[in-house]
Amino acid sequence: EAAGLIDRYGRTAADLRVSLIDRCNLRCSYCMPAEGLDWLAKSSLLDTSELDRLLRIAVERLGVRDVRFTGGEPLLRPDLAAVVANTARLRPRPRISLTTNGIGLTRRAEELAAAGLDRINVSLDTLRPDRFHTITRRRRLDDVLAGLAAAKTAGLDPVKINAVLLRGVNDDEAPDLLRFALDGGYHLRFIEQMPLDAQHGWQRSEMITATEILTLLQGTFALTPHEAERGSAPAERWSVDGGPGTVGVIGSVTRPFCAACDRTRLTADGQLRSCLFSQTETDLRGPLRSGADDEELADIWRTTMWGKPAGHGINDESFTQPRRPMSAIGG
Ligand code: GTP
Ligand code: 5AD
Ligand code: SF4
Repeated sequence: EAAGLIDRYGRTAADLRVSLIDRCNLRCSYCMPAEGLDWLAKSSLLDTSELDRLLRIAVERLGVRDVRFTGGEPLLRPDLAAVVANTARLRPRPRISLTTNGIGLTRRAEELAAAGLDRINVSLDTLRPDRFHTITRRRRLDDVLAGLAAAKTAGLDPVKINAVLLRGVNDDEAPDLLRFALDGGYHLRFIEQMPLDAQHGWQRSEMITATEILTLLQGTFALTPHEAERGSAPAERWSVDGGPGTVGVIGSVTRPFCAACDRTRLTADGQLRSCLFSQTETDLRGPLRSGADDEELADIWRTTMWGKPAGHGINDESFTQPRRPMSAIGG
């Protein structure tokens, strides 16, 4: 293997996040407007074999060891199980994970696990049907809860829950969510809201900070720092009531973890991003479709990652949101 994905700040990207589709079947208010977005044309999405080729290059030539599939909503890709199976055939076999809203998992969890999916992160911001509708503009809470259970039954391990708290909407629900996760054997993480919504409506004052999240939980639970090595993980973890259960807090804005970042990203339309917040993307689909060989594509990827910014810059005066929203980048 030649050089991996190193950047000028000494970080190595071995964790690839692949957005498979920008569409979603929910309309979370902090992500996109009720009417949805201008979706990518189907012809601009990487197809099954194009994904297989790029993933092979990432694993065999660039040292990628972890692959996470995201969206939009990745379960909307009919070929998801095939994409996972192809990825599981690569050597060294990467660890394979999925970030999903959980809708449709009851029908797909077994098939995905059999294809080689190792673990899964499911988004769930509330346990109350009325609030679920307020936040997502859809009445699908029962589908998500059933999907979570199906993921566990299928043997995906761990099953994580991602929750975003919104001021005045669900910020009183943090302890209930944690109790639910502990009882169900899920690993809960609370996420600080980032300026990545399509509507550009993010306001710092509206964000529930990591410190606030911890305070909200400490009214009910005793939290102590978890001893596990954090590495490049976005989540800071806490042991709950001295027991085996933990809770994570992803403080992207107030407790940035960019210095330890090991991530590289590929969008559904074949654009490389060195950072979630990159202002520029590098086209990989063009060269791929016009006949570039593996080493040429690998070199484009290396050059892109060399230019990775030191951090997201959310707290800088000059910060501007990336052109594409979260749903088109893959989180
Ligand atoms: P794990 O490997 O299970 O820890 O996954 P993850 O937390 O990296 O992935 P997931 O898709 O579940 O994302 C959870 C939250 O972390 C989302 O809000 C992501 O946008 C955010 N996140 C993931 N990676 C990064 C990152 O590199 N930078 C920032 N700022 N946020 C990230
Ligand atoms: N900031 C932080 N997290 C977000 N998510 C979606 N939009 C944002 C945002 N602007 C969450 C989703 C999902 C995870 C992948 O990212 O709720 O759980
Ligand atoms: Fe890495 Fe960029 Fe995320 Fe920071 S914001 S952790 S540099 S991808």
